[in-house]
Amino acid sequence: MRPYELIKAKRDGQRLAPEDIRAFIEAYTSGQVPDYQMSALCMAVFFRGLDAVELGAWAQAMLRSGEVVDLSDTPGVKVDKHSTGGVGDKVSVSLAPLAAACGVPVPMISGRGLGHTGGTVDKLLSIPGFRMDVPVPEYRRLVREVGCCLISQTEAIAPADKKLYALRDVTATVDCIPLIASSIMSKKLAEGIDALVLDVKVGSGAFMKKVEDARTLARTMIGIGAEMGRKVTALLTDMNQPLGRAVGNALEIVEAVEMLHGRAPADYTEVTMALTAEMLVLGRKAASIAEARGMLEKVIADGSAVRKLKEIVQAQGGDPRAIDDYSRLPQARATVDVVPAPRDGFVTVIDTEAVGLAAVALGAGRQRVDSIIDPAVGFTLLRKEGEPVKAGEPVVRVHYNDPAPLEEVKARLARAYQFGPQAPASRPLVIERLE
Ligand code: URA
Repeated sequence: MRPYELIKAKRDGQRLAPEDIRAFIEAYTSGQVPDYQMSALCMAVFFRGLDAVELGAWAQAMLRSGEVVDLSDTPGVKVDKHSTGGVGDKVSVSLAPLAAACGVPVPMISGRGLGHTGGTVDKLLSIPGFRMDVPVPEYRRLVREVGCCLISQTEAIAPADKKLYALRDVTATVDCIPLIASSIMSKKLAEGIDALVLDVKVGSGAFMKKVEDARTLARTMIGIGAEMGRKVTALLTDMNQPLGRAVGNALEIVEAVEMLHGRAPADYTEVTMALTAEMLVLGRKAASIAEARGMLEKVIADGSAVRKLKEIVQAQGGDPRAIDDYSRLPQARATVDVVPAPRDGFVTVIDTEAVGLAAVALGAGRQRVDSIIDPAVGFTLLRKEGEPVKAGEPVVRVHYNDPAPLEEVKARLARAYQFGPQAPASRPLVIERLE
C-alpha cells in the first residue's frame, strides 16, 4: 500500500495489515515518508484507534527500528520506570539514584517535554555539562559500573519513537492510548530491561483524564510487555495538580535533590517512594514493599542516594557541584508572584494542563519541534490544592527571563486556579496497582 492509501484506509476505519504498518514505520524512520504523512496517519489513529493485532505490529515496528540493547553482561535484574507524563513530574530524577543506591541496575531512556507535560531529558540537561546522547557502548558500561544511565532517545535505540514523539508533540496526537502505549513500550523494551514499573498518571494534568482510560492504557502496556516476556507493574497516580511545588526544568532538579535529602513536598516524596519500592521488589532486592521502603529511607538518611546522583551526573559529564550548590544551575533573572486569592478560603482546583501550558508559554517547554527551551524558567506553587489562602495572597511565583510572555502566562495561571470557602476532600495519590 502506498502511504496515501494507508492513511485513507485508517481514516475510513479499516484495519491495517501488519506488514503495511511495518513498511510505513520503516519508511518514516528512514525519511522516505515525510512528517506530514505520518502526522495524518497519527491523527487517523487518534480517531480510529488500533486493534490488538495492529498495535502489536506498530509497537514491534517501533522497537525494531533500531538496536535492541543487550545488558546481559550486567548482573542483576535491570528495572526501569516510565511515566505517561505529567506536570512537575520529576520522579525519575530522584527515583533512578534511589533504586541504583539500593543495588537495582537502572537503564533509563527518557523523553523531552511532550505537549503540556515536562520531560526528564529537559530537566536533566539543565545540569551544566550533563550529556544524555550517550553512545550505546558507553550506556552499557555506565549501567554496569555506575548502576544507572539516563539517556535521551537516540538514533540507535527506537529511532522511530524519537521522530514520532517530537512530531506528536506539535500535532495534537499525544493523548491517544495506542500511540502512547507503543511509544513507551518500544523504547523501554529496546533499552535492555528485565522489568518495568509504569506510572500511569490520571487527572487534569495527565493525558488520561479518567481512571478508566488510564486503566486501559496500563493494561495495554502490560499486555505488550507480557508478549515480550517482561514483567510490568503499573501504578495509577493522581495528576490533578502538579507534583511537588516546582514546575520548570532547573527548578525541578532542585526539588528532586531535596527529595534525596528527605526535604521535598509530601506528594512528590510519596509517589517516588511508591514507584521506587516497586522497582526494588521487581529487582529482587526486597521481598516486600514494606522492606523496600525501609531500604529507601536508609539510603536517603545515610546520604548514599545523593552520592549516587552525583556519581551519575559526573559519569555523564555533568557538574556534580550543582547538586550541592544550586546557584550553579541556570537561574532566572527575575521573579514575580501572581494570581492573588480573591478572598479568604482555600485553593479548591488547579487545572494542571493549564499550568503546563502556561509553563510552555513561558519557555519551559516547546511550541514547535525546534523550539529552544529556557532551563531556568518556571513556577513555584506557593499554594496547592486544599491549602488555605488569605484574600490578596498570590499563589504562584513565576521565575522568568523574557518578560514578553508574562501577561499571557499570568492569565493562563489565573484561569487554572479556583478558590472556595472550604478545603476539597483529599484524594489518594496512588489510585490503583495493576500487574
Ligand atoms: N511518554 C512517552 O514516552 N510517550 C508518549 O507517547 C507519552 C508519554
